[in-house]
Amino acid sequence: MNTEYLKKIAAEKATEEIQNGMVVGLGTGSTVYYALLKLGGMVRNGLDIIGIPTSENTEKIATEQGIRLSTLAEYATIELTIDGADEVDPHLNLIKGGGAALVREKIIANASERLLIVVDQSKVSQVIGTTYALPVEIIQFGWEATQRMVNQICGKSDLRGGIQKPLITDNGNYILDCKFNGIPEPEKMELLLNNIPGVVENGIFAKRADKVIVGTTDGIKYME
Ligand code: 5RP
Repeated sequence: MNTEYLKKIAAEKATEEIQNGMVVGLGTGSTVYYALLKLGGMVRNGLDIIGIPTSENTEKIATEQGIRLSTLAEYATIELTIDGADEVDPHLNLIKGGGAALVREKIIANASERLLIVVDQSKVSQVIGTTYALPVEIIQFGWEATQRMVNQICGKSDLRGGIQKPLITDNGNYILDCKFNGIPEPEKMELLLNNIPGVVENGIFAKRADKVIVGTTDGIKYME
């Protein structure tokens, strides 16, 4: 069984929780992609939902799929959000931002009554920050100074895309990928990094997920 299949079964399972009339947060990434395709089919078969996308890429895919979209200006509360993650621990702490959408993802997660995460089994670890570098979105102005401050905490970080061609997020910012040897206290680290001037947001989602659906070679597993 390849990873794409495991992503697909997790993402499609999540769509079973969507009911007619719901306002649904639409995450970003290659796993959520399968949920968007599935939702597109459900909409064509009569499901009536409103999606709030977490990135320009997701907005494009959802539009192609015929999913009706809106914004947080129109809807203060989202009933359910389906999103992916880069690393998940047994306490439902997450690292997100591999797809550079972490700021919008966190805003939408915070506005959601339920956050459902879909991953394949390779994303599960005992402590987040063990297998995946933590993305930190920073503003362009004075980014070198911000990076120095971030490095005092994590030791080393890389500007995503490199200095010659840095990746620019949907919000016009840069991303630093920070390598940790595990983040044993995610709640503290999430606050600490966000306290640095120039940091917009970081990819730790400490205890925000309500349920993680994991696609494994033994079928679907749940963490909740
Ligand atoms: C985007 C994200 C993604 O949800 C995360 O990177 C997982 O992506 P994928 O499903 O492609 O592995 O946080 O910012």
